[in-house]
Amino acid sequence: MKATFAASLALASLIAAPALAQDPSGDAESGAALFERQCITCHVVVNDEGETLAGRNARTGPNLWEIAGRTAGTVDGFRYSNGLEALNEMGVQWTEENFVGYVQDPTPWIRETADSNRLRGSMTWKVRSEEEAHDLYAYLYSLAPPEGEGS
Ligand code: HEC
Repeated sequence: MKATFAASLALASLIAAPALAQDPSGDAESGAALFERQCITCHVVVNDEGETLAGRNARTGPNLWEIAGRTAGTVDGFRYSNGLEALNEMGVQWTEENFVGYVQDPTPWIRETADSNRLRGSMTWKVRSEEEAHDLYAYLYSLAPPEGEGS
């Protein structure tokens, strides 16, 4: 009986593997420090209860609470660029891959993703390396893991 239980656990973890593969690959602790240095001049992370989890009161960029897995361009009342609006209409989500591409060079990434050179993004910051981008994603994910992904 015990052996069967162990075997079914092993099977369950095999089945769960694709979901686990979506766990962030970066280092959340390093991401926290990077966020302080690079993002809080424009962004805050404020949860639904109004608690500020990161940043102070910058409003140049949208609140990044629950950004992992969120559809692009969905913060109420924020005036997004035509680029972010186009991504929103396409239903583009901030998966790790999309986030990592976007934050390293927003406008070219938007143009390529939406296949249109008429589009622009209004975020002027560029994250210097792919590794930093992964760490930033891991940090934002750790503040608000998408539903069903544990906590
Ligand atoms: C100079 C100001 C500025 C800085 C610095 C900045 N951002 Fe932004 N960010 C913006 C603006 C403005 C937007 C809205 C973009 C648009 O509408 O095209 C934005 C949008 C975003 C979005 C899309 C949000 C959504 O609601 O879809 C993400 C993700 C993001 N920023 C992440 C970051 C991260 C991570 C950093 C730090 C590495 C950062 N930003 C640094 C100004 C900034």
